[in-house]
Amino acid sequence: MARVGVRIAGTGHHVPERVITNDDLAKIMNTSDEWIQQRTGIRERRSCDPTKGETPTWLSTQALQKALDSARIPGSDLDLVIVATVSGEMSCPSTACRVAANVGAGNAGAFDLAAACSGFVYSLTLANDMIRAGTMKTIGIVGMDVLSRVLDYENRGVAILFGDSAGAVVIKATDDTSRGLIASCTHADGTRWSDLYLPESLLDCPDDADFATVRLNSLQMNGREVYKFAVGTFPNLIAETLEKAGVGADAVDMFVCHQSNARMLESARQRFGIPEEKLYINIDRFGNCSAGSVPVALDELRAKGKCQEGDLVMFVAFGGGLTWGSSLWRL
Ligand code: UT7
Repeated sequence: MARVGVRIAGTGHHVPERVITNDDLAKIMNTSDEWIQQRTGIRERRSCDPTKGETPTWLSTQALQKALDSARIPGSDLDLVIVATVSGEMSCPSTACRVAANVGAGNAGAFDLAAACSGFVYSLTLANDMIRAGTMKTIGIVGMDVLSRVLDYENRGVAILFGDSAGAVVIKATDDTSRGLIASCTHADGTRWSDLYLPESLLDCPDDADFATVRLNSLQMNGREVYKFAVGTFPNLIAETLEKAGVGADAVDMFVCHQSNARMLESARQRFGIPEEKLYINIDRFGNCSAGSVPVALDELRAKGKCQEGDLVMFVAFGGGLTWGSSLWRL
């Protein structure tokens, strides 16, 4: 089978109009703009308004349509639609099926991929490999989460962190075999599932849960543990990926990282001596958008003329599962 390359033909993103500032949150819970900015780097986040029809499917459709427009191809060219999310409307049907229908993807395959904040990066690796294997030629990937659906505004440790967004890419086979994924890491540790989970029933909770405070269908997070895990994992993941690729950090033109917490990103940046302009941060405007973070950052970078053809770009994320993954691409 002839080798093929893979190129990112188009990108797009969409966020709801409604802005929730730190001061807005301080009106409904015991927190402050100063605390949130200092601990997370977040100033504001976006939140879907379901009364206006702003559903996960709607948000994903907007992002994928923009990516298709930027790739200048119709939805009917897609062979597959993947939506990386843990907050679709329902588990059946998948959000991807409805999004594929909305963009006119005909009978293209469609499924959701659940790897929490790592979902989009997992999907990039998977889609690259499907194209390189010759199974598919054109794939639309959406990273979307609408965690406002599952936030308990009485739990300030969690509610301040997350925002809603969707970002998308269209990737295509190309004859230029130098383009596409160079190295990747895909990891999980299910022994630590209860550090970040979404219970639907009390039976879903770990034995040591504080049953007086747990709210069903709302995100439960042990922030301190996740933070410790991430501060260690982020640099290890970058190092492991660089080693697999046989390149140094200075060879990478851009690090497109999950926007988990600005302090965490800053500590990884310093550890590798990455210049500020090579590690993109937009958490101040959007908060932690789970699977939406990485593709939204990528689309913003491309709009700024960064992440261009030929660049070496590392995508990095970690999240619930616990999951963590990276995907290093020659664009
Ligand atoms: O996307 C992947 C998944 N998630 C993450 O990456 C999140 C990782 N974790 C974090 O980013 C941080 O743990 C948080 C930003 C969530 C919390 O920051 P922290 O520095 O770890 O705070 P903490 O949980 O250790 O709490 C410190 C203090 C506590 O008060 P006491 O016990 O010291 O009196 C909290 O009750 O801050 C208090 N606190 C708050 N105060 C004001 C917790 N949340 C808030 C709040 N406003 N929103």
